[in-house]
Amino acid sequence: MATKIKATKATAKQYETILIDKDKGITTITFNRPDQRNAMSPQLHMDMADALDDLAVDPQTEVLIITGSGKAFSAGQDIKLYFRGTQDDPAARHKARNASNEWRWQKLSRFPKPTIAMVNGFCFGGAFTQVCACDFAFAANEATFGLSEVNWGILPGGIVAWNVVQVMGYRNAMYYSVTGEPFDGKRAVEIGMVNKSFPKAKLRTETVKFARMLQEKSPAAMRYTKEAVRAVRFMNEPQAADYLNAKSDALKYVDKEKSREQGMKQFLDDKTYRPGLGHFKRQKAK
Ligand code: COA
Repeated sequence: MATKIKATKATAKQYETILIDKDKGITTITFNRPDQRNAMSPQLHMDMADALDDLAVDPQTEVLIITGSGKAFSAGQDIKLYFRGTQDDPAARHKARNASNEWRWQKLSRFPKPTIAMVNGFCFGGAFTQVCACDFAFAANEATFGLSEVNWGILPGGIVAWNVVQVMGYRNAMYYSVTGEPFDGKRAVEIGMVNKSFPKAKLRTETVKFARMLQEKSPAAMRYTKEAVRAVRFMNEPQAADYLNAKSDALKYVDKEKSREQGMKQFLDDKTYRPGLGHFKRQKAK
């Protein structure tokens, strides 16, 4: 597959399996193996691991969108290249599995900026992991999701089963994992797998509109909020209370924009906005 990356100053690297596009703070990564329905090959895992490292510290990336080219978001792990291709080569399997788990979970779920999975079409098996790892997920009504592992004799491994139990709840996770029954974008909303769904023709516009809204918010407050929401899931109440107090204090120190002070001043002194109804007008750090 030919590599094509829109030329922007900060997009020096070219990748074999993904495209990167930057537009005024919104960076889109597009899985680019449309003929294979964006199935995740070992190379795609290496490319994603590398790209996420770069974009995490890229000042031109304020919000990250992940999507797929052609008919698919991603048809899951590449059964030919990831499973069959490495089954007699433990070193290659080890490397591919590490890269696969690293980018789809550690790097993506801990990405320092907001992340949105934009599920444009087929989304199967292992591809659920990156949807769950993103902070937000939007889908085309016409998208087809499926925990299809059982249909070819395996189980939702990696951390797919762990993820879907949390995201769609026990009953739905059990039902869809054991049956492998496909479902569409509207059903994905009903079971909590994605936040919203739209007709496919509107998916990109609506996702970008949402991303632009996020760009107006304090990056430090958003980052600490998303880290906190993820972390408290696995804590008991005293641990959560202690952690949240410490995290709140830490936020005051790391926030170069002094969002809290800006927000208080604009509400209490300037009376220019209502925090209950919207965000203060950010003055970005220089
Ligand atoms: N791994 C490897 N190759 C895959 C793949 C996967 N997960 N998904 C699709 N492909 C390949 C097909 O083998 C085919 O290759 P070919 O052109 O060399 O024959 C090509 O992509 C197109 O797939 P095809 O099945 O003809 O397209 P479709 O649009 O009719 O159907 C899917 C698309 C996604 C429904 C179907 O390909 C499918 O069921 N894929 C497997 C999904 C899955 O169970 N993934 C979980 C893996 S854990």
